[in-house]
Amino acid sequence: GLPSAVTIYEVGPRDGLQNEKAIVPVAVKAEFVRRLVAAGLPVVEATSFVHPRWVPQLADAAELMTELGDAGRHLPVLVPNERGLDRALELGLEHVAIFGSATETFATKNLNRTFDEQFAMFEPTVARAREAGMDVRAYVSMCFGDPWEGAVPLEQVVTAGTRLLDLGASQLSIGDTIGVATAGHVTALVAAFAEAGVGTDRLAMHFHDTYGQALANTFSALQAGITTFDASAGGLGGCPYAKSATGNLATEDLVWMLDGLGIEHGVDLDAVVATSTWMAGELGRPSPSAVVRALGSA
Ligand code: HMG
Ligand code: MG
Repeated sequence: GLPSAVTIYEVGPRDGLQNEKAIVPVAVKAEFVRRLVAAGLPVVEATSFVHPRWVPQLADAAELMTELGDAGRHLPVLVPNERGLDRALELGLEHVAIFGSATETFATKNLNRTFDEQFAMFEPTVARAREAGMDVRAYVSMCFGDPWEGAVPLEQVVTAGTRLLDLGASQLSIGDTIGVATAGHVTALVAAFAEAGVGTDRLAMHFHDTYGQALANTFSALQAGITTFDASAGGLGGCPYAKSATGNLATEDLVWMLDGLGIEHGVDLDAVVATSTWMAGELGRPSPSAVVRALGSA
């Protein structure tokens, strides 16, 4: 059967805004985060402490977290390396996320590291974060296909994912960075992790909706026992270092489906729709989310 409750891990302020052409003012970002928290989203990933030249959209990470103050301390932020961790530690943050790649090519393009070198970069980062009492999440990207390498074997994804978990991460988010996953592939990958001893309690799913499959994939993952889903308010998102990456599964689309299934999530749908409608105005274009378009007033 399906789970009775799930956790929605909101990535709009990070995955959404990292891909916007325009630089969103820090006050608007802070308002976006505050509204998402107020809408009942239990986890809101706020920003990234990456190299500002690599992702200029999030160069204001320290400013944003300072602006959020105590209310932002428990919100996760991306850190790729010790330099990023130091920046998060200086601000007293409590939750970081590293992000690895299942493929050699994307490790090189996104992290400037080979497949093996990425773990060498993460190892001291996670160790020091854990020593400081932080919670560490790990992402693994290109789990269902890679724009340069094509198909990605299940075993390769499981190898990358278990190596990240073994560093000391509490949760592994399985990234369909370019949105090519289909429902059966999701089932097969969850089963491959189970065979390697990684149960659904340690996994999250991170779907992008490039091919319109994100909800079908989510349903498949629910049936497989997954209870944490990444989503982005209004369907914002994408990765600047992955060609053809578009928006994440929209939080509103996910909430609509969960409501229909009677699965608890604790999120106020109207409040998220109102937030995405407001954000679409700030960004100057309509939300790609079908549910936002159906329910929104703008
Ligand atoms: P690098 O050029 O190899 O860095 O980049 P380096 O270690 O050689 O250091 C070079 C300089 O950068 C040094 O300064 C460092 O201090 C500085 P210098 O000594 O020359 O003056 N530096 C930093 N400055 C600020 N913050 C830092 C930092 N690190 C080094 N953290 C690096 C390596 C990892 C930094 C770079 O490749 C990078 O920033 N990549 C980030 C790319 C990114 O953010 N991509 C999007 C997120 S991933 C994603 O969206 C996928 C996901 O959603 C899941 C999915 O959908 O699959 C998570
Ligand atoms: Mg992503």
